[in-house]
Amino acid sequence: MNTSTSKNPPKIVVTGRIPEGGLDLLRSAGDVWAWSGDDPAPRDVVRDQLADAKAVVTLLSDQVDDDFLDAAPNARVVANVAVGYNNVDVDACTARGVRVTNTPGVLTEATADLAIGLLLASTRRLGEGERLIRSGAEWKWGMFMMLGTGLQGRQLGIVGMGEIGTATATRARAFGMDIVYHNRSAASAEVEQRLEARRLPLDDLLAGSDVVSLHCPYTAETHHLIDADALASMKSSAYLVNTARGPIVEEAALVDALGDGAIAGAALDVYEHEPDVHPGLLDLDNVVLAPHLGSATVETRTAMAELAARNVVAVLRGDDPPTPVN
Ligand code: GLV
Repeated sequence: MNTSTSKNPPKIVVTGRIPEGGLDLLRSAGDVWAWSGDDPAPRDVVRDQLADAKAVVTLLSDQVDDDFLDAAPNARVVANVAVGYNNVDVDACTARGVRVTNTPGVLTEATADLAIGLLLASTRRLGEGERLIRSGAEWKWGMFMMLGTGLQGRQLGIVGMGEIGTATATRARAFGMDIVYHNRSAASAEVEQRLEARRLPLDDLLAGSDVVSLHCPYTAETHHLIDADALASMKSSAYLVNTARGPIVEEAALVDALGDGAIAGAALDVYEHEPDVHPGLLDLDNVVLAPHLGSATVETRTAMAELAARNVVAVLRGDDPPTPVN
């Protein structure tokens, strides 16, 4: 059934601005109410729209909790436009018979590209260099100026060897890095052979890696996975890259570790209390800070919106969504 031609097209609420391709698909399936501001919609504005919504398209800045779901008693699907869905209470959705979907796959390459960009920016001190030039201070080339760390033969420890972790490791191999990883289950034999990757307990990975890159989901188990003890166990020459979720790292402990030289540097795309950034990080030269840009390419954001829309269309038709969470 094409729901758009039925007499009472289902209402679809889109809580934030998404690319047109996704909206077009949604419009073919129902009456779309979409917030069009660049900032997230105020929660009470969204709440008012939810009462008769059959489907809700959410962003990672929305908290889909009992309060949100109480306001959406007719919702059949929550389609999160993100691969991470820690902002959605999946158990509460399941208990109410609400399907949850996310957008895996389509943002793998973009996020892995950014992880490598951050890895290079921190190990080669690009942020510091840019700040120096922009400061207008006098400078000249020097044999010992802003020396960084080469990557050839260095060990990259990937925490979370899913699609993005594997794509990041694949790129790092091209830079001559050796790959170790920590994951609940072993990667496929194909991946282990292709990347010559070894699976290690987290402690061993942290103690031996020159760069640690986080790619695990944020859950109760991974909250502050990288805490003061974990940071203290890393090499003082090591770098930390986080393109996953902020609260996986205890940000205050990271500020201390960067400040007292317990690790050499870090590069962050995500923050514990996003969008707030620990003020201590702003004062440090050995950390590169990006504003959650992992999937921020035109192609990727379009693909994410379209995949979220296809999930909605499928559920409204009574079909299984392409990328279900529950
Ligand atoms: C971005 O952070 C995502 O989870 O898609």
